[in-house]
Amino acid sequence: MNRNAAIGVFDSGIGGLTVAREIARELPGETLLYLGDTARLPYGSKSAETVIKYAVRNVSFLAKSSLKAIVVACNTVSSVALPALREIVTVPVLGVIDPGARAAVAATRSGIIGVIGQPGTIRSGRYESAILQLASSARIYSRPTPLLVPLAEEGWVGSEVARLVLKEYLTPLVDRGIDTLVLGCTHYPLFKEQLRALFQDEYKREVVLVDSAVSISAELRRLLESQQLLSDAPQTSHRFFATDSTETFSRVGRSFWGEDFPQVLHVDL
Ligand code: DGL
Repeated sequence: MNRNAAIGVFDSGIGGLTVAREIARELPGETLLYLGDTARLPYGSKSAETVIKYAVRNVSFLAKSSLKAIVVACNTVSSVALPALREIVTVPVLGVIDPGARAAVAATRSGIIGVIGQPGTIRSGRYESAILQLASSARIYSRPTPLLVPLAEEGWVGSEVARLVLKEYLTPLVDRGIDTLVLGCTHYPLFKEQLRALFQDEYKREVVLVDSAVSISAELRRLLESQQLLSDAPQTSHRFFATDSTETFSRVGRSFWGEDFPQVLHVDL
């Protein structure tokens, strides 16, 4: 396999840039090929069958380029589609669920873990089964928190509305005694600061936030190192594709990535 091939990353939309950004931070020498399926977003409210169909289409597009690994940034896709995706490509396909589960088990002291995500992710029960496989005595409390994605996309992170929504969603989990919270959706790392403030000021307790973007980047590094596939190319040349208008994507991309966010190209899938 070509060590200087790109790493394919895809998501239902823009949210997966939290994962791409983290990979770029952890592995600055790697070139990323990113696809945001903005024409079909959100995935989180759709059936598993539909999500698998979209995910197969996304991976088939990415696989037309020379890749050494594919990272599924989307929690919804990671929770239902990995077996189908691994059937259509030969390169490793990494999802965010298992790295997130491992990080949660490593972080918890009480063994009481909260998981929040889009409805499809929570319905799949994948975080629970992955955590229980590692720590059979863990107690896991999960909750779909679908309002957080539109709040993030509207740029309302940090607002009073977001604080009230977070509080409404999290109080039942805090009442159960969680000491670790898995942020099971691409958009949730954007709320980290507000969540920390909420736990500290409102609930007066320490809760570790598990960001699967961080966990999967570390996992990707281990994989590339173990297979001697770390890039030695002199420079990176990231490429970003979106299936809907590229305008919003470029604007939000710049706020995520910085002013050097490359031009986003449109692709019809
Ligand atoms: N990317 C999705 C996830 O991580 C959130 C947005 C959507 O529902 O498409 O679950």
